[in-house]
Amino acid sequence: MASSSSRLAGVAPLLLTAVLCLQLPTVSRAQLQVGFYEKTCPDAETLVRQAVAAAFAKNNGIAAGLIRLHFHDCFVRGCDASVLLVSANGMAERDAMPNKPSLRGFEVPSGRRDGNISLMKDADENLPLPTFTLQQLIHLFAKKTLTAEEMVTLVGAHTIGRSFCSSFLSRIWNNTNPIVDEGLSSGYAKLLRSLCPSTPNNSTTTVIDPSTPTVLDNNYYKLLPLNLGLFFSDNQLRTNAALNASVNTFADSEALWNEKFWKGMIKMGNIEVLTGTQGEIRLNCSVVNKITGMEMAHYYSGSASSVDEIVTS
Ligand code: HEM
Repeated sequence: MASSSSRLAGVAPLLLTAVLCLQLPTVSRAQLQVGFYEKTCPDAETLVRQAVAAAFAKNNGIAAGLIRLHFHDCFVRGCDASVLLVSANGMAERDAMPNKPSLRGFEVPSGRRDGNISLMKDADENLPLPTFTLQQLIHLFAKKTLTAEEMVTLVGAHTIGRSFCSSFLSRIWNNTNPIVDEGLSSGYAKLLRSLCPSTPNNSTTTVIDPSTPTVLDNNYYKLLPLNLGLFFSDNQLRTNAALNASVNTFADSEALWNEKFWKGMIKMGNIEVLTGTQGEIRLNCSVVNKITGMEMAHYYSGSASSVDEIVTS
């Protein structure tokens, strides 16, 4: 079997390919195009590849961070990098509860038609919580044109990365989950309680896949039937016969999961994309380029106390 590091070494290029394919805008409507920058900026892909590889060399956790960043960007106003925008009043997407402080990877941006609106409330409305029931999860993914089966495929990303205690605290202490939660082994719950006291230090984290936490493999699907899924939402996938069958199929075939996972990532990257003359290409990834005349008037009339507020209000 390949070692963790050699398996991980494959993650960055794959990620990059996926991210790049998704980041290339076209001049026509709603279609991204591979090779969009071939003439105008032939080194674009190499530069992004180098930036991702350098970030990965410094901290291999960036692989998990980027996969989740992609997910959280695409589910809120489409894949328009709105999650990268910063706000002085703390009301942008990145400030919403599902993103702060857990989302990471902001330091490795890439170019596409970028959005210029980033609202915390949009993130709260469109991102799933670890306490969601299966019905809530299916509904949320369906709104983004993803089937329940595609959801099962994509959540396999929980085979890498880490989580703050707050995301599963209600599961291991005084179970306040919406419905009876029988999907957590008592041994695992005990281990998690020792790591996360009922009032944990806010910065304590644990790996999501305790056996192969840094390998992008199909282990997530092997853990679920053993009641070793970390989140209540993970275990929800087992409560439906058809989805549970998919869990078992992916547990049996890593190759099949791998193929479907990257297809799912690419489909996710096409959600509500901005193309042609929509949006803009940001000069600084965390700030919009310019404010329109009307927005500026709003600013000078005093209804907004900062340019930043215009973007996020
Ligand atoms: C089905 C609904 C989902 C829920 C409820 C959910 C929830 C979560 C939560 C609570 C965390 C931990 C956050 C923290 O640090 O506290 C997390 C981490 C993560 N999620 Fe999900 N997630 C879902 C789907 C997905 C999907 C579709 C992907 C990607 C395709 C994904 C990729 C990741 C990754 C890679 C991490 C680790 C991030 C890191 O280490 O920085 N998740 N997720």
